[in-house]
Amino acid sequence: MNYVIEMLNIRKEFPGIVANDNITLQVEKGEIHALLGENGAGKSTLMNVLFGLYQPERGEIKVRGEKANITDPNIANSLGIGMVHQHFMLVDTFTVTENIVLGSEPKRGATVDIRQAEQEVAELSERYGLNVNPKAKIRDISVGMQQRVEILKTLYRGADILIFDEPTAVLTPQEIKELIDIMNSLVKEGKSIILITHKLKEIMEVCDRCTVIRKGQGIGTVEVSKTNPTELASLMVGREVNFSTEKTPAQPKETFLSIKDLVVKDARGVEMVKGLNLEVKAGEIVGIAGVDGNGQSELIEAITGLRKSEAGSIHLHDKAITNLTPRKVSQSGVSHIPQDRHKFGLVLDFPIGENMVLQTYYQSPYSKKGVMNLKNIYKKAESLIKEYDVRTPDAYTKARALSGGNQQKAIIGREVDRSPDLIIAAQPTRGLDVGAIEFIHKKLIEERDKGRAVLLLSFELDEVMNLSDRIGVMFDGRIIADVKPEETNEQELGLLMAGNADKKAGDQ
Ligand SMILES: Nc1ncnc2c1ncn2[C@@H]1O[C@H](COP(=O)(O)OP(=O)(O)O)[C@@H](O)[C@H]1O
Ligand SMILES: [Mg+2]
Repeated sequence: MNYVIEMLNIRKEFPGIVANDNITLQVEKGEIHALLGENGAGKSTLMNVLFGLYQPERGEIKVRGEKANITDPNIANSLGIGMVHQHFMLVDTFTVTENIVLGSEPKRGATVDIRQAEQEVAELSERYGLNVNPKAKIRDISVGMQQRVEILKTLYRGADILIFDEPTAVLTPQEIKELIDIMNSLVKEGKSIILITHKLKEIMEVCDRCTVIRKGQGIGTVEVSKTNPTELASLMVGREVNFSTEKTPAQPKETFLSIKDLVVKDARGVEMVKGLNLEVKAGEIVGIAGVDGNGQSELIEAITGLRKSEAGSIHLHDKAITNLTPRKVSQSGVSHIPQDRHKFGLVLDFPIGENMVLQTYYQSPYSKKGVMNLKNIYKKAESLIKEYDVRTPDAYTKARALSGGNQQKAIIGREVDRSPDLIIAAQPTRGLDVGAIEFIHKKLIEERDKGRAVLLLSFELDEVMNLSDRIGVMFDGRIIADVKPEETNEQELGLLMAGNADKKAGDQ
């Protein structure tokens, strides 16, 4: 077999954890090879070993059939291996070209011919359909474009084996389509790609083969044309996975959340929510469907007290919560699972245990007269960690060290445990793997059935369709349609989301 990369029986340990235990990955020339695994399975570690960032304790790496000793990324580069990391490593104030040549200037001491470099970057961009402007400043281009700059950086250094670490996690659906085209054109030109992902749809769409790892163990390699999402999911999590969320019909009761004629401006002062009306009742999940940028974030921020409302009202039961502080809103019975779990959800450098009482630490039994009672805090945290299946070595581990899925489970545990009347779940499963998604969906439905009102914001139509009892379609700052998931389909929702409300107007 013509393998460009062979990683044989790789073992990589970190203190207290075996991140890779006897994993084998063989990549054929010209293929797109998926590396699939849940959060924390060991995917990034394995690729960091290949890229020379980590040294394995055991195992062997062969590049194009030759044994290789990849002790640092420069050696990886010289072997034609390039990596597009999950977090980009670009200098904001530099141009695209400056970033690309950075660190690979022709000779020490020699001046860089930036014109020449721009020309080369433009040619590479053209050849692979990247559509990048070599002279643009990084800070002026979109996240999707920045990712392409990272791709160009590897190509400029002559990479013909490209590693993509969860590249689609940061992209919009449109950008994902474009990236898939780019990957296809790369392999057409003879490049080989290792694609780390936990999105089964993407694997089915672009990959030739797929290697699955679970909890640090290699599970095996399958041909994508001979498998299906259900099989891949169960290989990944080690048990059957339910894709369609099981739930009984909702039993909505009294109205908990009621929003009238709400107007909210964004940070630039532009009106984003333009007289919006919305109600969520006890015992129902209302999903907001819409294309990103139609006022969804501003709506959520206004309800939770993170952003000022210009006009209109927000009531929880009979109580006006319009323009209260976030803490007051929270005390009124609103829980918030935020879109940006790093910015608003967690204090990353605090232990996960303390993060789990972030909303209540100043109350008894966690504090008395301003002094925190750590024993009570950790007792509570440990029981939540168990109940919400947060995988962490212990409650004292910093939140930063946990995988995204486990961070999210911790936030949900904390927010749900407070027995709120209203749960606002903003993109609760973004970037998570199927196992964690299934868990979180189940929890939200359980909470609904306990009589809580749930407001769900998601840009994944699948999720909105599966989880919601009612769907409010948001367009241009308003809810322009109110539909039931069983009475609509993705195509109709797509039309509504593009602003074609006429055909549903009668149902409002
Ligand atoms: N530098 C590190 N030090 C200690 N533990 C680490 C380090 N990097 C990763 N880990 C741990 O190794 C395991 C695998 O992590 P990772 O390879 O990032 O998983 P994945 O990319 O599949 O989500 C996790 O339990 C993670 O916490
Ligand atoms: Mg990773």
